[in-house]
Amino acid sequence: MIFIQRKQKEKAVVPVENEGNNGANIFTQYMQKRNQIVKNKKILQSSYIPSNLPHRTDKINEIVEIIAPSLNRDKPSNILIIGKTGTGKTAVINYIGKELKKADKDEENCKFIYVNCEVVDTPYGILYNISNQIITDPSKRIPFTGWSLDKIFAELTDYVDKQDKVFIVVLDEIDRSFEKNGDDIFYYLTTINELLENSRVSIIGITNNSRFTEMLSTKIKSRLGEEKIIFPPYTVEQLGDILVERAKDAFEEGILDSDVIPYCAALSAQEMGDARKALDLLRISADLAERNGDTVVTAAHVRLARSKIELDAVSEVIKTLTVQSKIVLMSIIKNTEDENMTVMTTGDVYTMYKYVCEAISQTILTQRRVAGLISELDMLGIVHARVKSFGRQGRTKEISLNTPKEIINMVKSDEVFRGLDSYRPQKQMTLM
Ligand SMILES: Nc1ncnc2c1ncn2[C@@H]1O[C@H](COP(=O)(O)OP(=O)(O)OP(=O)(O)O)[C@@H](O)[C@H]1O
Ligand SMILES: [Mg+2]
Repeated sequence: MIFIQRKQKEKAVVPVENEGNNGANIFTQYMQKRNQIVKNKKILQSSYIPSNLPHRTDKINEIVEIIAPSLNRDKPSNILIIGKTGTGKTAVINYIGKELKKADKDEENCKFIYVNCEVVDTPYGILYNISNQIITDPSKRIPFTGWSLDKIFAELTDYVDKQDKVFIVVLDEIDRSFEKNGDDIFYYLTTINELLENSRVSIIGITNNSRFTEMLSTKIKSRLGEEKIIFPPYTVEQLGDILVERAKDAFEEGILDSDVIPYCAALSAQEMGDARKALDLLRISADLAERNGDTVVTAAHVRLARSKIELDAVSEVIKTLTVQSKIVLMSIIKNTEDENMTVMTTGDVYTMYKYVCEAISQTILTQRRVAGLISELDMLGIVHARVKSFGRQGRTKEISLNTPKEIINMVKSDEVFRGLDSYRPQKQMTLM
C-alpha cells in the first residue's frame, strides 16, 4: 500500500521533467528525492511536544498533584526537577503547561510562564521575559534595557498582585543563569510572595546538574527545593517505546525496517538513556535515506547517521581547539602522512611541532607543555596516547592518529596552516 501511494506521488512530479529543460530546474531532482519518507518532519524535531509521553506518566502525575491547587488559586510548593540531558524534563513541563491552560479557561486562576535560562541568562533578561509574558498592556511593557533590577522587580510585583491569581514560573536550565549570575534572581523570585497580598508565585526550576543545589545558599536551597523530582535516564526498552510512538506519527507504515528502532534505542541507551539522541539518530537516518532516494530506512542508514553525528561532534571539538593544540595535532598528522610513522614518541611529535611553529611563525612551547597538549587531545579522543614501559629504562608514550579522514582534512585546511606546505626552512632542519 505504501508503495502505491509513493508511486502516485512520484508520478505527480514527472510531468515537470517531461516539459523538457524548461520545466525542470535545479530543485527538481531534489524535490523528487525528498519528502517521500518522512510524513511530518516537525514530529521528529526536539522542539515538538508530543501529546503522549511514554514512561513519564508517574512524573507527570507527581507534578500535577503538586501544582493542581493553583486551579483553586492556592499556592503550590516550589519544585526542583533534576535529571540528565534528554530525560524529558522540558517536554514534560511544557506538556503540563499546555494541559493546565486547557483546564483553566482564560487563565482565570493561574498563569503558566516558561523561561529558558540558557537563552535569557541575565537577571534582567529573565525578569524582562517573565514580566512581558504577564504585562499585556503594550504601553506598560518593560523596556529591553535601561531599568534597574529593583525597578523591574517593583513593577512586576505590582502587576502580579493586581491580577489576583497564581503564577507558576518555570525556569528551565536554571543552572545556566546561576553559573553566570549567582542566585540573586532566585532570591528575587522566592521572596516575591512576602510582598504580595492577592497573588502567589511558585517556581519550578529545572536542571540537568545533579549537584546544582550544592551551589545555592542554604536559604535559597530550601525554598527552591520544597519538592524535588528526579527524572531517571531511559532504559533501552523505554527509548524503543518512545521512538515507536513518534515513528507512528512521523512515518507511513512499512518505511522503517524492523531493526531500525531497536538499533537506534540500543545506541542511545549506551549514551546515558538520552531520548534526544535517540530521536536525532532516527531523524538523521531517515534524512540520509531520503537524500539517497531510498524508499526504506535500514540499519545501514542508522550506522551512517551515527558516524555523521560523531563526525559533527569531533568537528565541533576541533573548532574550539587553541592554535597550539591545532599545531600539535597537525604535527601528529604530518608525522603520520609525510614521515610514515604509524606510532611516534613525544620527542617525534616535538621535533615536527617545532618545524610547524617555525613555518607558520608561532611561539614554540616547551616539550613538557606539548606533552600536556597531547594528553588533552587523547582525552578528547582525537589521538591515541598509550604509555609504554621499558622496565628500568623508563617509560615513553606511543602516540598515534585516531582521527577520521574528514577531520584530518579539516585541520589541514585550517587558516592557521596557510603557507605551511610551501614553507622551505632557511637551514635544513632534521625532523627525526
Ligand atoms: N517520554 C517521552 N516520550 C516522548 N518523547 C520524549 C520523552 N522524553 C523525551 N522526549 C523527547 O526527547 C527530546 C529531549 O527531551 P527534553 O528536551 O524534554 O529533555 P531534557 O530532559 O529537557 O534535556 P536537557 O536537560 O538537555 O534540556 C525531546 O524531543 C522530547 O520531546
Ligand atoms: Mg530541557
